[in-house]
Amino acid sequence: MSNIRDIAVVGAGLVGSGWALVFARAGYSVRVYDPSDEIRNRILPWAKESLSELENTGLIEDPQAILSKITVHDRMEHAVDQVVYVQESVFETVAAKTEVSLALDAVIGPDTLVGSSSSGIPASRFTSECKNRGRFMIAHPVNPPHLVPVVEVVPAPWTDGDAVDRVVELMHEIKQVPVRLTREIDGFVLNRLQGVLLNEAWALYEEGIASLADIDATIAHGLGLRWSFMGPFETIDLNAPGGIDDYAARLRDLYAGMVRIPPPGAWSDDVIRKAAEERRAALPADSLADRRAWRDAILGRLAAFKKSEHLSG
Ligand SMILES: NC(=O)c1ccc[n+]([C@@H]2O[C@H](COP(=O)([O-])OP(=O)(O)OC[C@H]3O[C@@H](n4cnc5c(N)ncnc54)[C@H](O)[C@@H]3O)[C@@H](O)[C@H]2O)c1
Repeated sequence: MSNIRDIAVVGAGLVGSGWALVFARAGYSVRVYDPSDEIRNRILPWAKESLSELENTGLIEDPQAILSKITVHDRMEHAVDQVVYVQESVFETVAAKTEVSLALDAVIGPDTLVGSSSSGIPASRFTSECKNRGRFMIAHPVNPPHLVPVVEVVPAPWTDGDAVDRVVELMHEIKQVPVRLTREIDGFVLNRLQGVLLNEAWALYEEGIASLADIDATIAHGLGLRWSFMGPFETIDLNAPGGIDDYAARLRDLYAGMVRIPPPGAWSDDVIRKAAEERRAALPADSLADRRAWRDAILGRLAAFKKSEHLSG
């Protein structure tokens, strides 16, 4: 990456605010822009509190130094002036992404790269009219990005390979874990994998094979324990004496018979209603925010453990 140590975060809701911590923690000066007064007023107090939690977990050492790297701006052109990279994290609609991409396109410098946090809208749907479209791509994080490091880097058909290389390099430098896709695909990799699991979970629940809680337990106390530090391929490579090909020889017929083709279609209203009743009985709606904070505290401790074991990617 270049010597410029300035990064812009455009859109500072749930995900953009987490990105600000990620870049500041890595030593970049982060200029945050959001059109909402409420969001702009919230970002620094939120960052201060989150950095204090990261310090308590042992993930950072000097929260004040990191906080001082973040500045908040009410004009986008000020935030993005002379930055090496823009992380766009505005609403997930084609209209919002198109409007902001065109606005960025008009003001970014000749070397500035732009990554969109888009969860599923590919960059080709909102950057085609940008004159600098070769420098726009997807850099899709997982929420919250300062605790979950993977980032899917997905080029549009017109994104320059060199621009993708530089964003992948930047993600490595800031200690995120980039996953590079060769081309656009619905759901990218992460939600393709999550989609298969969710579709199967809904089907098992709808067919009455197991309760919601038991299906969740299968992941939380089973598959998920390994998956927090290794993927499905490495998992099966270790689960047969001779490795992945031995595993395939033993079990491929089992898996061949259980894949659901064609895709099951949208989840039904009835099963969603039933699942929501069960979840709200287990966790009332007014406890959701507390439970999210609990999740983030566990994620922080898990991140600290992985760091101590050199498993951070
Ligand atoms: N929430 C998640 O779990 C998650 C995970 C990964 C990726 N994402 C993606 O990140 C992006 C942001 O999602 P979020 O959950 O942070 O949403 P959010 O609603 O919390 O934040 C969106 C922010 O964009 C701002 N905004 C709106 N118009 C803008 C403009 N013209 N210029 C600058 N900012 C503008 C809003 O004021 C708001 O603060 C979306 O593309 C989303 O799909 C979300």
